[in-house]
Amino acid sequence: MQTIRGFRDILPEQIALWQKVEQEAADLFESFGYREIRIPIVEKTTLFARSIGETTDIVEKEMYTFEDRTGDMLTLRPEATASICRAYIQHKMYAAEPVRKFYLTGPMFRRERPQKGRYRQFYQIDAEVFGVESPYIDSELIFLLHALLRRLGLEGLSAHINSLGCPACRPDFQKALLDFLGERKDNLCENCKRRLVKNPLRILDCKVETCRQALEGSPATVDHLCPDCRTHFETVKTSLEKLGVDFMIDDTLVRGLDYYTRTAWEIQTTTLGAQSAVAGGGRYDRLVEELGGPSTPAIGFAIGFDRLVEVMEQLDTQVCEKGPDLFIVSLGADAQAYAFEWSCRLNTMGIRTDSDFRGKSMKALMKRANKVNAAFVLIIGDNELAQKKLVLRNMATKEQTEIGLDNLVNDLAQLIKN
Ligand code: HAM
Repeated sequence: MQTIRGFRDILPEQIALWQKVEQEAADLFESFGYREIRIPIVEKTTLFARSIGETTDIVEKEMYTFEDRTGDMLTLRPEATASICRAYIQHKMYAAEPVRKFYLTGPMFRRERPQKGRYRQFYQIDAEVFGVESPYIDSELIFLLHALLRRLGLEGLSAHINSLGCPACRPDFQKALLDFLGERKDNLCENCKRRLVKNPLRILDCKVETCRQALEGSPATVDHLCPDCRTHFETVKTSLEKLGVDFMIDDTLVRGLDYYTRTAWEIQTTTLGAQSAVAGGGRYDRLVEELGGPSTPAIGFAIGFDRLVEVMEQLDTQVCEKGPDLFIVSLGADAQAYAFEWSCRLNTMGIRTDSDFRGKSMKALMKRANKVNAAFVLIIGDNELAQKKLVLRNMATKEQTEIGLDNLVNDLAQLIKN
């Protein structure tokens, strides 16, 4: 049996980087006042179709959707933003607190063509803020993302930012885009021809070469912003400059999801081939209301966890895997019985203890203690038990300490903690 295409195992040997990222992300989010949220992996299909947009690639071709036994159409979440909005509305989270900040880590599912950096089950680290219209929160999120990536050793990644405007200025931009595409319509792919009527902004995100060529020199959203959107974008830019965050204006960036308004951004890298986006996000001031909640400004981003780990691997990021505090070398059946009991006890006292019950020789067991990188080794054999004295060896200093059998567990805990 094998994993299915686009799905993969993350093995214990690979997990150190994942855990490091998770820990750093949680620390940083918590210090900025974000709280973890956990939500279901399956939701009603309509939630994603309505939020991400009926004419997006995700909804049109990438969702894992199935009919459950009662006839409901359900979907494995392709992203987290829609579900977090659903939870925000369902639990009336706006009622208790005007501003809510969440983070989430977990698997997402998209049926894309698998390749390096692109999987059908992949992981995201997601952050969302509800209730703040101020552009400072846009900058806070971009800064936070930037700071996290730097903490993880990724330097020189610049944020591509753009403003997609709001319902007040979007029609003006759409008109300019449709005028521009006028005589180029025939060069568009069949999908984009449909999008001309249904959702012209999506054409800007089409990957088909003929569409890319037809779009060369197309109008930019930033040139069609209303005064409020322009002021908002100016403040985002100046506050990012003050914070020393590297960014560039990318007026071709529209993102692949329909819910965005105003600021949108992506962090790109050149090290992952075609899959250049390590993280992406933006504002979605209309979505909560469109899903039935009160009018609530909102904004967030998601990091592609798999891609981030791949970049860190390419940078040869080493996470020092800590060995056990103690390895018990036990020789003979009686010694093994003691080793078993003590290792169970010590592990519950916060002393990470390992032992080996395969009846190997002293030499083989010492070799193993070295291999697992144990800080201390305790040697027990029949002689030691008869004399009621055991030897504890500090593997770094080679120093040996004798300890009596009475009160052994507490004495060991003391010695090792020191
Ligand atoms: P997204 O750009 O679709 O945005 O995904 C965010 C990140 O997830 C991407 O930049 C990429 O690193 C990673 N990603 C996407 N698809 C795959 C895949 N098939 N394999 C591996 N990694 C992948 C969102 O999902 C939005 N919900 C972000 C957001 C949050 N916007 C506002 N709040």
